Amino acid sequence: MAHPWLTPVLSDDWDADKPWTLETYEHSGGYDALKTALAMDQDAVIQLVKDSGLRGRGGAGFPTGMKWGFIPQAKDGEAAKPHYLVVNADESEPGTCKDIPLMMATPHTLVEGVIISSFAIRADHAFIYVRGEVLHVVRRLQRAVQEAYLAGHLGKNIHGSGYDLELTVHAGAGAYICGEETALLDSLEGRRGQPRLRPPFPAVAGLYAAPTVINNVESIASVPSIVKNGAEWFASMGTEKSKGMTLYSLSGHVKRPGQYEAPLGITLRQLLQISGGMREGHELKFWTPGGSSTPILTAEHLDVPLDYEGVGAAGSMLGTKALQVFDETTCVVRAVLRWTEFYKHESCGKCTPCREGTWWLVQTLARLENGKGSEADLELLLDQCDNILGRAFCALGDGATSPITSSIQYFREEYIAHFTAGRCPFDHAASTVFETAGATP
Ligand SMILES: Cc1cc2nc3c(=O)[nH]c(=O)nc-3n(C[C@H](O)[C@H](O)[C@H](O)COP(=O)(O)O)c2cc1C
Ligand code: SF4
Repeated sequence: MAHPWLTPVLSDDWDADKPWTLETYEHSGGYDALKTALAMDQDAVIQLVKDSGLRGRGGAGFPTGMKWGFIPQAKDGEAAKPHYLVVNADESEPGTCKDIPLMMATPHTLVEGVIISSFAIRADHAFIYVRGEVLHVVRRLQRAVQEAYLAGHLGKNIHGSGYDLELTVHAGAGAYICGEETALLDSLEGRRGQPRLRPPFPAVAGLYAAPTVINNVESIASVPSIVKNGAEWFASMGTEKSKGMTLYSLSGHVKRPGQYEAPLGITLRQLLQISGGMREGHELKFWTPGGSSTPILTAEHLDVPLDYEGVGAAGSMLGTKALQVFDETTCVVRAVLRWTEFYKHESCGKCTPCREGTWWLVQTLARLENGKGSEADLELLLDQCDNILGRAFCALGDGATSPITSSIQYFREEYIAHFTAGRCPFDHAASTVFETAGATP
C-alpha cells in the first residue's frame, strides 16, 4: 500500500502485470475518459482543465487550460486552419526522470491524454516528440499507438463521434535544446533545433506556422484522470495555486531513489522520510528542486513546500521537480563544473552570450576546481554569469548560470578552500553512491 502522503494516480498501475498493454490499461478503466470527453462539448473540456488548475509539468508551470484557450478558433463561415498538438517528450534536464518511466510503464495514459487534448483544441494531427536515444521508449510508444489505432481510439471517426485524429511518434536526434518548445518545432519540421523568436507564439504560429499547443508528457497524461474524476477532485490535492498530484524524481545520495507521486506542496523532508532518508551515516548538503537549471538549495530549505510559489519564495524554481540530493561528501564546485560542462556542450550556438559564455564559464570553473583559481576568478565567474543571465536568447543560457550563482551564494567558503589549499579538498570516491553500504541497489 502506498504511503499516506503519496497519491499515486499516474503511477498507480506501474507495478501491474504488463501495465503498458492496451488490455491492462482498459482493464483498469483506460479509455473510459475518452468516451466521456467525446460526448462533451470541446470548449467544456477546455473549461474542465482550466477549472482543475492543472499547470504545465514541463518546467514553467503555465496553466494548461489557459494555453489551450489561446488557440484561435475559426468563426462561422471561415475556413478552419489546421491545429496541432505536440507533446514534449524530450526529457533531458539533468536529474529529470519522470516522463520516460511514465511512457515505459503506461504509454496509453499519454495516448489517451493526447486524444482528449487534441479533441479539445480541435486538432486533427498530434505528435509525440521523443528523444531518439531512448529507443526502448520510442518502440513502446509506437506499439501503444498501433494498439490504439487497431482498437478504434485513433484514426477516422473515433468511436462514431465524427472526430478524426492521426498521431505520429517522432524520434528526435537527441539534443537538450530540442526540449525548448520552439527549437522542438524547428526540429520536428526537419530543421536544426534552435529556438525561434517570439512572438509569434506557437498558439498562433507554431508547427508549419499553424496554431499549436505544446505540452509536457506529464501534463497531457494528467488529463484523462481529470476528465474521469472531475476538476474538483484534482484541485482538492496540492496547494492554493499549485493544484493536483505530480511526479517527483528523487536521485543521488538517498536510500531509495525513484519517482514519488505526491500532491504539490509536499516537502523534501517528507519525501526523504518516505524514501528511507539520506544514505547511512551522511547528511544533506545541497539539492536541486527542479533539475540543474534551478538554483540549488540547502538543508535549511528542507521544509519548503515543493510547489511553484514555495520554491520561488525560497529563491529557486520548482522546474521539473527533479530533486537531486547530495550529501556532505560532494564537492559543490565539482558538481557545478559537471553541470556547466553539460550546458556548454548543449548550447545550440545561436546567441553569443550563451555560446561563448558557457565556454568561458567552464574555463573559469575548472581553474577554481583544480585549486589554481583566485578570489579574482570568483568575481570573474560572477561577472560572466551576469553577462549571460537575461541576455541569452533562450532559457538554456539563463539556466546555466543558476547552479553557479546559487552555489557561490551558499558555499563561497568552499570555493575559497580550493584555491587556499591549491587543490580540491574532497575525496571524490567518497561521493560515489557505490561507496556506501547503506545504499539500496
Ligand atoms: C533548454 C530547455 C529544455 C527544455 N526541455 C524540456 C523537456 O525536455 N520537456 C518539456 O516538457 N519541457 C521542456 N522545456 C520547457 C518547454 O519549453 C515548454 O515550456 C514545455 O514543454 C511546455 O509544456 P507544459 O506547459 O506542459 O509544461 C525546456 C525548456 C528549455 C529552455
Ligand atoms: S541561450 Fe544558448 S541554447 Fe538558447 S539560443 Fe542562445 S545559444 Fe542557443
